[in-house]
Amino acid sequence: MDERTVHRFPFGPAVALELDPKYRKLQESERVARVRMPFGGDAWLVTGYEDTRFVLSDPRFSRAVTLEMDLPRLQPRIVQNPEMIMSMDPPDHTRVRQVAARAFTPRRVERLRPWIAGQVDGLLARMAGQGPPADLVRDLALPLPIAVICEILGVPFADREKFRVWSDIVMSVTAFTPEEIQAAFQSLTEYLQWLVKQRRVAPADDLFSAMVRARDTEAVMSERELVTFGVTLLVVGHETTVNEIADMMFVLLRDGGYAELARGGGPPVPRVVEELLRFVPLESPGGFARVATEDVVVGGTLIAKGEAVYTQLSAANRDPRVFADPDAIDFAAEREQHLTFGFGPHRCLGAALAKAEIELAVEGLLRAFPGLRLAVDPERVTWKLDRLVRGPEALPVTW
Ligand code: HEM
Repeated sequence: MDERTVHRFPFGPAVALELDPKYRKLQESERVARVRMPFGGDAWLVTGYEDTRFVLSDPRFSRAVTLEMDLPRLQPRIVQNPEMIMSMDPPDHTRVRQVAARAFTPRRVERLRPWIAGQVDGLLARMAGQGPPADLVRDLALPLPIAVICEILGVPFADREKFRVWSDIVMSVTAFTPEEIQAAFQSLTEYLQWLVKQRRVAPADDLFSAMVRARDTEAVMSERELVTFGVTLLVVGHETTVNEIADMMFVLLRDGGYAELARGGGPPVPRVVEELLRFVPLESPGGFARVATEDVVVGGTLIAKGEAVYTQLSAANRDPRVFADPDAIDFAAEREQHLTFGFGPHRCLGAALAKAEIELAVEGLLRAFPGLRLAVDPERVTWKLDRLVRGPEALPVTW
């Protein structure tokens, strides 16, 4: 190990949607920084766009190995499961991903759009009936993604609230005890086992039925992998989308972008969503680590076999070498090369679905509430702490 500075990580508490200026400093001075994690010792942190893409796509960086070691990490214990797609390396990852990708097709997402739009309209009609004011988190951002995941899994309506509670617990970093998190995982798993059996007896037209069919006809996936995949969808597809919707609406309402869109002035909503996906620092510090399976040089720094590397997607999305004036929102610029959905073999399987949900949510709001505005000063919005992704606790609005 050379004499380089070891930075304490995370750098500081995440404040609202501010991106810690230290990331920019590191992009300029140290492409690959040594960081001391709260648990498990030191790791590497890459902050630049190209280095991030390299680490996320080079097969010498493993996700599976992170499960077998005392990983440098943010939380005392990470609940990880080797059968989760996120924790797999090839060839297992390729095998499971192929089955999932066969069910998660763009066509299926397209077919869901009218259904999602209907859900948005229903939620907004209820909001109109109860307010003003309203809370965009409670009334739209939170219920929409869970409804969509339940729909693709074929979860009966009556069980949906149970799901929300379990996935909320599973996503917490320190708000719940490891035992509580494990128990929530267990409950989700048992429920999904039951659901797989249901799908087998009475197949439906949902995505999960397509996966059950693929597993039963081709047997390329174990029963446990299938069940775990269902749980994974809840965990990774829910909290991310909830907070992305809330964060984007916060930015649009705070900066006047919403009013411009409502006047019919702004760019098309998909363009707005794409740029906000880049701009909003959704990820709390420290995403999913990778471990080098052999010595690898990244940006001139040797990462030795067995060492852990963290990326920070929101920092990469603000890399001035790739995005001109990166801290400014520019709807005219085409910046869809952002890394908010990751890169490489683990790139988000639900990206198209998530984008459809966000676009339809914003479009629905513009239709139903053209005069929407924040009901409090932006500084008074309170933010969730200790989560894997950032978002407001509540987003009070009026119209
Ligand atoms: C705005 C919302 C979302 C964001 C920002 C997001 C972001 C991400 C990112 C960054 C990764 C890769 C992580 C890594 O490689 O370290 C990922 C993976 C994944 N996402 Fe998403 N996601 C979102 C919504 C969804 C939705 C709605 C679903 C499905 C219902 C979903 C399903 C998945 C799955 C299955 C993986 C694992 C893929 C693999 O390991 O091969 N995501 N997501």
